[in-house]
Amino acid sequence: MTTSFDGEAYAERIAAIAATGKDMHGEARFCAALVEPGARILDAGCGTGRVGARLAELGFDVAGTDVDPSMLAVAQRNTDVRWYLADLAELALHEPPVAESPFDLVVAAGNVFPFLAAGTGPQVLQRLAGHLRPGGLLVSGFGLDRAHLPAEAAIVDIASYDDWCAGAGLDLVSRYSTWDGDAWSADAGYAVSVHRRGGGRR
Ligand SMILES: C[S@@+](CC[C@H](N)C(=O)[O-])C[C@H]1O[C@@H](n2cnc3c(N)ncnc32)[C@H](O)[C@@H]1O
Repeated sequence: MTTSFDGEAYAERIAAIAATGKDMHGEARFCAALVEPGARILDAGCGTGRVGARLAELGFDVAGTDVDPSMLAVAQRNTDVRWYLADLAELALHEPPVAESPFDLVVAAGNVFPFLAAGTGPQVLQRLAGHLRPGGLLVSGFGLDRAHLPAEAAIVDIASYDDWCAGAGLDLVSRYSTWDGDAWSADAGYAVSVHRRGGGRR
């Protein structure tokens, strides 16, 4: 069972952090640097839409999806993004009636993988890979230890994550310790990973 969120409370927390002057757009900036202007991007586990909304502001063609209705209800206030209520483990946005075209990049920011229902990681990665064009990129960022995760999130082992990606036809391209591109270190406690779907142009 996936943790349930309170969308309004989550959005208030994000707004309070933003009000302190903290940069809230590292994830969007990181993704924007990886694709062509106007690229098609899916914000997977979009929550209240923080990352997807920023990517739309930057001129990308963005869709977002989340399983939690209260989170998605906040996201839906932004009409520059196509928002979908869906479980990533069953995601089928490329099928009718939605029929989204394949994406150039899928981003799962903000601990989406540690919040998945237990045992569904491999299936979610299969689904996300299926929404990428050949050569498209999956970008994820999540904490790796208790110090970098909320109490209710599970710890996802990074080697297991890479195995799940490999099983879904996703090859590791690069890994960092922060969304600012700081060098990867296994003891950093946080991993930003870029995987590429095999079989196509870069
Ligand atoms: C900590 S929030 C991050 C939200 C957003 N990505 C951000 O960075 O602000 C994690 C999100 O993952 C979503 N999530 C967890 N499991 C999911 C699933 N199986 N399918 C879709 N979304 C899921 C939760 O509902 C929640 O909105």
